[in-house]
Order: sequence, then structure tokens, then C-alpha cells
Amino acid sequence: MTIRKYLILNGPNLGHIGARQPEIYGSQGLDSLPALLKELNGGTDLGVELLFHQSNFEGNLIDRLEKARREGLDGVAFNAGALTHTSLALADCLAWIGVPCVEVHLSNIFARTDEPLRQKSLMGKSCIGVVAGFGILGYALAVLALERRNAAGRDEK
Ligand code: DQA
Repeated sequence: MTIRKYLILNGPNLGHIGARQPEIYGSQGLDSLPALLKELNGGTDLGVELLFHQSNFEGNLIDRLEKARREGLDGVAFNAGALTHTSLALADCLAWIGVPCVEVHLSNIFARTDEPLRQKSLMGKSCIGVVAGFGILGYALAVLALERRNAAGRDEK
């Protein structure tokens, strides 16, 4: 049986999830992800391998995504932080690497009407889906969605 591998990739200012502005981003850390995944999978281990990477630097995130392509990873749950809204370079990378990506945000960026720039994503068009507003649960939902899609061996929804 193949154990599929998923990268949980986080961009700038996402190295302290749970501690950073918990009123906006929640107080749960990424360490709760495996338990959440098991819970969502009805109490059984999903049987996937999770790889974690965080960087505050745009080029480092691109390097990691290119490595994900070379490694043949099965998907990426990617919270690019503020680079979501500004980085054409990250969007360009996602457009060609051929690794399915789900865009993840802890907060509901579309509801942040006081900061309209946050409502825009440059990378979204190269992702298979977007999860926003559910805190850490969003990463679990992204992995589950990627895994179901891969297990079914299909490209359609
Ligand atoms: C974020 C939303 C971004 O606007 C912000 O810059 C972040 C976190 C989120 O997870 O809600 O750093 O991506």
C-alpha cells in the first residue's frame, strides 16, 4: 500500500500559530493536526505522512515547492500568509509544479472587509481549492480533501 505524503507549508509569520493574535488566528497549534485528522477520519489513522515546513522568506517557499515536485509529493496544504495577496512569484511557481495544492487560511480572508487587500489571492487560481476561516481545522480539511482526491485517482471533483 502506498503511503501518500503531504506537505504542510506555511509562509511568513506563521511560525507561531496559536500564539500569534489568537483572536484572529485561533489558539490551537499545528501540533493538534494529526489528532484532528484522525477525528475527521472517524477515529482511524488516515495513513498518510505529513511533512512540515515554514519560512518567512518567499524564495525559500519556492525552493520547498520545487523540492515537493522533485520528491513527487502527493499534495500541499499551503498557507502563504501575507504573500498570498502579493506574491506573483509564488503564484507562478504553483502554476507549473504540478503538485496539487490547497490554499489554507486560518482566518476567513473574505470576511476581513476592513483590509480589502487580504480578500485577494494571487495563488488561488493555481490551487484545487481554498479553505479559510476554520483555524487549524483548515489544514486537516485540506489534507483530507487531497487524500480523497488522490485515493479516488481522479482529477475531477
Ligand atoms: C493568513 C491571512 C493573511 O492575510 C495574513 O497575512 C496571515 C495569515 C491566515 O491564515 O488567515 O499571515 O494567511
